[in-house]
Amino acid sequence: MPKKVISSHTGKSIVLRPWRDSDAPTLFRYASDPEIGPRAGWPPHQSVDESRDIIRTLFSNHTTWAITLKDTDEPIGAIGYGPACNCKLPAREGEPIVGYWVARPYWNRGVCTQALGLMIDQIRKTTEIPSLISGHFVDNPASGRVMEKCGFVPTGDTCFDESLFEGKDRLIRVLRLPLHSVT
Ligand SMILES: CC(C)(COP(=O)(O)OP(=O)(O)OC[C@H]1O[C@@H](n2cnc3c(N)ncnc32)[C@H](O)[C@@H]1OP(=O)(O)O)[C@@H](O)C(=O)NCCC(=O)NCCS
Repeated sequence: MPKKVISSHTGKSIVLRPWRDSDAPTLFRYASDPEIGPRAGWPPHQSVDESRDIIRTLFSNHTTWAITLKDTDEPIGAIGYGPACNCKLPAREGEPIVGYWVARPYWNRGVCTQALGLMIDQIRKTTEIPSLISGHFVDNPASGRVMEKCGFVPTGDTCFDESLFEGKDRLIRVLRLPLHSVT
Protein backbone atom coordinates (compact mmCIF):
# COMPACT_ATOMS: atom_id res chain seq x y z
CA MET A 1 0.00 0.00 0.00
CA PRO A 2 1.38 3.47 -0.86
CA LYS A 3 2.84 5.48 2.00
CA LYS A 4 0.56 8.03 3.63
CA VAL A 5 3.14 10.81 3.70
CA ILE A 6 5.52 11.32 0.79
CA SER A 7 8.45 13.70 1.12
CA SER A 8 11.99 14.02 -0.14
CA HIS A 9 15.16 15.25 1.51
CA THR A 10 16.58 16.47 -1.78
CA GLY A 11 15.51 20.08 -1.98
CA LYS A 12 11.78 19.70 -2.60
CA SER A 13 9.61 22.45 -1.08
CA ILE A 14 6.49 20.31 -0.78
CA VAL A 15 5.23 17.27 1.09
CA LEU A 16 2.30 15.02 0.12
CA ARG A 17 0.13 14.06 3.07
CA PRO A 18 -3.46 12.88 3.70
CA TRP A 19 -6.22 15.49 3.77
CA ARG A 20 -7.67 16.43 7.17
CA ASP A 21 -11.06 17.86 8.16
CA SER A 22 -9.25 20.97 9.40
CA ASP A 23 -8.08 21.67 5.80
CA ALA A 24 -11.67 22.42 4.72
CA PRO A 25 -11.51 26.26 4.89
CA THR A 26 -8.23 26.36 2.95
CA LEU A 27 -9.50 23.83 0.42
CA PHE A 28 -12.62 25.95 -0.10
CA ARG A 29 -10.54 29.13 -0.55
CA TYR A 30 -8.53 27.57 -3.38
CA ALA A 31 -11.04 25.13 -4.92
CA SER A 32 -13.78 27.77 -5.20
CA ASP A 33 -11.58 29.60 -7.73
CA PRO A 34 -13.32 29.31 -11.12
CA GLU A 35 -9.91 28.94 -12.79
CA ILE A 36 -9.22 25.60 -11.07
CA GLY A 37 -12.00 22.99 -11.25
CA PRO A 38 -13.33 23.76 -14.74
CA ARG A 39 -9.83 23.22 -16.19
CA ALA A 40 -9.88 19.74 -14.68
CA GLY A 41 -13.54 18.96 -15.40
CA TRP A 42 -15.19 19.66 -12.03
CA PRO A 43 -17.23 22.61 -10.73
CA PRO A 44 -15.84 25.15 -8.24
CA HIS A 45 -16.59 24.33 -4.59
CA GLN A 46 -19.62 26.25 -3.28
CA SER A 47 -19.05 26.18 0.48
CA VAL A 48 -16.68 25.08 3.25
CA ASP A 49 -19.18 22.32 4.04
CA GLU A 50 -18.91 20.99 0.49
CA SER A 51 -15.11 21.06 0.74
CA ARG A 52 -15.27 19.15 4.04
CA ASP A 53 -17.56 16.54 2.43
CA ILE A 54 -15.09 16.12 -0.41
CA ILE A 55 -12.25 15.64 2.09
CA ARG A 56 -14.32 12.93 3.82
CA THR A 57 -15.33 11.14 0.61
CA LEU A 58 -13.37 11.68 -2.62
CA PHE A 59 -10.11 12.54 -0.82
CA SER A 60 -10.41 9.84 1.84
CA ASN A 61 -8.33 7.01 0.37
CA HIS A 62 -4.72 5.83 0.23
CA THR A 63 -3.96 7.27 -3.21
CA THR A 64 -5.07 10.89 -2.82
CA TRP A 65 -2.86 13.46 -1.13
CA ALA A 66 -2.84 17.12 -0.19
CA ILE A 67 0.09 18.94 -1.78
CA THR A 68 1.44 20.93 1.17
CA LEU A 69 4.16 23.49 1.65
CA LYS A 70 6.97 21.88 3.64
CA ASP A 71 7.53 25.03 5.73
CA THR A 72 3.91 25.74 6.74
CA ASP A 73 1.94 22.50 6.16
CA GLU A 74 -0.60 24.57 4.18
CA PRO A 75 -2.49 22.49 1.60
CA ILE A 76 -2.11 24.24 -1.77
CA GLY A 77 -3.35 21.51 -4.09
CA ALA A 78 -4.33 17.90 -4.53
CA ILE A 79 -2.90 14.93 -6.39
CA GLY A 80 -3.83 11.30 -6.69
CA TYR A 81 -4.49 8.29 -8.83
CA GLY A 82 -7.28 5.77 -9.07
CA PRO A 83 -9.35 3.53 -11.31
CA ALA A 84 -9.88 5.00 -14.76
CA CYS A 85 -13.17 3.16 -15.27
CA ASN A 86 -15.44 6.20 -14.95
CA CYS A 87 -13.79 8.34 -17.59
CA LYS A 88 -13.42 8.30 -21.33
CA LEU A 89 -9.63 7.80 -21.38
CA PRO A 90 -8.51 4.70 -23.30
CA ALA A 91 -7.02 3.05 -20.19
CA ARG A 92 -5.56 -0.44 -20.28
CA GLU A 93 -6.77 -3.12 -17.85
CA GLY A 94 -5.78 -2.02 -14.34
CA GLU A 95 -4.17 1.22 -15.51
CA PRO A 96 -4.89 4.06 -13.06
CA ILE A 97 -5.66 7.63 -14.05
CA VAL A 98 -3.68 10.51 -12.51
CA GLY A 99 -5.25 13.84 -11.51
CA TYR A 100 -4.01 16.99 -9.81
CA TRP A 101 -4.47 20.71 -9.29
CA VAL A 102 -2.51 23.52 -7.64
CA ALA A 103 -3.90 26.76 -6.14
CA ARG A 104 -3.53 29.72 -8.48
CA PRO A 105 -1.13 31.80 -6.29
CA TYR A 106 1.38 28.95 -6.61
CA TRP A 107 1.22 28.32 -10.37
CA ASN A 108 4.36 28.16 -12.47
CA ARG A 109 6.75 27.56 -9.57
CA GLY A 110 7.26 23.87 -10.30
CA VAL A 111 4.92 22.75 -7.51
CA CYS A 112 2.87 20.30 -9.55
CA THR A 113 5.94 18.89 -11.28
CA GLN A 114 7.50 18.22 -7.86
CA ALA A 115 4.28 16.64 -6.57
CA LEU A 116 3.82 14.39 -9.59
CA GLY A 117 7.48 13.37 -9.46
CA LEU A 118 7.17 12.41 -5.78
CA MET A 119 4.01 10.40 -6.40
CA ILE A 120 5.50 8.58 -9.39
CA ASP A 121 8.64 7.65 -7.38
CA GLN A 122 6.38 6.26 -4.65
CA ILE A 123 4.27 4.26 -7.11
CA ARG A 124 7.43 2.81 -8.68
CA LYS A 125 8.83 1.82 -5.28
CA THR A 126 5.68 0.38 -3.69
CA THR A 127 3.53 -1.06 -6.47
CA GLU A 128 3.70 -3.24 -9.57
CA ILE A 129 1.52 -0.83 -11.55
CA PRO A 130 2.93 -1.03 -15.12
CA SER A 131 1.76 2.36 -16.38
CA LEU A 132 -0.30 5.44 -15.64
CA ILE A 133 -2.66 7.31 -17.93
CA SER A 134 -3.85 10.90 -17.86
CA GLY A 135 -5.19 13.58 -20.10
CA HIS A 136 -5.78 17.29 -20.28
CA PHE A 137 -8.15 19.57 -22.13
CA VAL A 138 -6.38 20.88 -25.22
CA ASP A 139 -6.99 24.45 -24.03
CA ASN A 140 -5.05 23.69 -20.81
CA PRO A 141 -1.48 23.11 -22.08
CA ALA A 142 0.17 23.79 -18.69
CA SER A 143 -1.17 20.46 -17.44
CA GLY A 144 0.26 18.61 -20.43
CA ARG A 145 3.59 20.30 -19.80
CA VAL A 146 3.61 18.98 -16.20
CA MET A 147 2.98 15.44 -17.45
CA GLU A 148 5.67 15.67 -20.12
CA LYS A 149 8.22 17.04 -17.61
CA CYS A 150 7.53 13.90 -15.53
CA GLY A 151 8.01 11.52 -18.45
CA PHE A 152 4.47 11.06 -19.76
CA VAL A 153 4.32 10.57 -23.53
CA PRO A 154 1.37 11.55 -25.75
CA THR A 155 -0.41 8.41 -26.95
CA GLY A 156 -1.69 10.13 -30.05
CA ASP A 157 -5.24 9.56 -28.82
CA THR A 158 -7.81 12.20 -28.08
CA CYS A 159 -11.23 11.80 -26.51
CA PHE A 160 -14.14 13.94 -25.43
CA ASP A 161 -15.31 14.48 -21.88
CA GLU A 162 -19.06 14.08 -22.27
CA SER A 163 -19.91 14.19 -18.58
CA LEU A 164 -19.01 17.81 -18.12
CA PHE A 165 -20.96 19.96 -15.74
CA GLU A 166 -20.74 22.81 -18.24
CA GLY A 167 -22.74 20.73 -20.71
CA LYS A 168 -20.33 20.98 -23.63
CA ASP A 169 -17.88 18.49 -25.06
CA ARG A 170 -14.22 19.38 -24.71
CA LEU A 171 -11.34 17.61 -26.41
CA ILE A 172 -8.84 15.80 -24.17
CA ARG A 173 -5.24 14.97 -25.19
CA VAL A 174 -4.17 11.60 -23.76
CA LEU A 175 -0.73 10.79 -22.29
CA ARG A 176 0.74 7.64 -20.71
CA LEU A 177 3.72 6.97 -18.43
CA PRO A 178 5.32 3.49 -18.55
CA LEU A 179 6.55 2.59 -15.05
CA HIS A 180 7.76 -1.00 -15.21
CA SER A 181 8.69 -2.84 -18.37
CA VAL A 182 6.03 -5.34 -19.39
CA THR A 183 7.47 -8.72 -20.43
C1 LIG B 1 -1.98 22.52 -14.45
C2 LIG B 1 -1.46 22.91 -13.06
C3 LIG B 1 -1.70 21.74 -12.11
C4 LIG B 1 0.04 23.19 -13.15
O1 LIG B 1 0.54 23.42 -11.84
P1 LIG B 1 1.91 24.21 -11.62
O2 LIG B 1 2.34 23.94 -10.22
O3 LIG B 1 1.76 25.60 -12.05
O4 LIG B 1 2.87 23.42 -12.64
P2 LIG B 1 4.45 23.58 -12.81
O5 LIG B 1 4.88 24.93 -12.34
O6 LIG B 1 5.10 22.39 -12.20
O7 LIG B 1 4.62 23.47 -14.39
C5 LIG B 1 3.83 24.26 -15.27
C6 LIG B 1 4.45 24.24 -16.66
O8 LIG B 1 3.46 24.67 -17.60
C7 LIG B 1 3.99 25.75 -18.34
N1 LIG B 1 2.89 26.58 -18.75
C8 LIG B 1 2.16 27.44 -18.01
N2 LIG B 1 1.23 28.03 -18.76
C9 LIG B 1 1.36 27.51 -20.01
C10 LIG B 1 0.69 27.71 -21.24
N3 LIG B 1 -0.35 28.57 -21.36
N4 LIG B 1 1.09 27.00 -22.32
C11 LIG B 1 2.12 26.13 -22.22
N5 LIG B 1 2.80 25.89 -21.09
C12 LIG B 1 2.41 26.58 -20.00
C13 LIG B 1 4.95 26.42 -17.39
O9 LIG B 1 5.85 27.26 -18.09
C14 LIG B 1 5.62 25.18 -16.79
O10 LIG B 1 6.53 24.57 -17.69
P3 LIG B 1 8.15 24.88 -17.63
O11 LIG B 1 8.59 24.44 -16.27
O12 LIG B 1 8.68 24.05 -18.73
O13 LIG B 1 8.31 26.35 -17.83
C15 LIG B 1 -2.18 24.19 -12.51
O14 LIG B 1 -2.09 25.19 -13.50
C16 LIG B 1 -3.64 23.93 -12.19
O15 LIG B 1 -3.97 23.49 -11.10
N6 LIG B 1 -4.56 24.23 -13.14
C17 LIG B 1 -5.99 24.07 -12.91
C18 LIG B 1 -6.40 22.61 -12.67
C19 LIG B 1 -5.84 21.70 -13.73
O16 LIG B 1 -5.64 22.09 -14.87
N7 LIG B 1 -5.58 20.43 -13.34
C20 LIG B 1 -5.10 19.42 -14.30
C21 LIG B 1 -6.23 18.88 -15.06
S1 LIG B 1 -5.69 17.74 -16.33
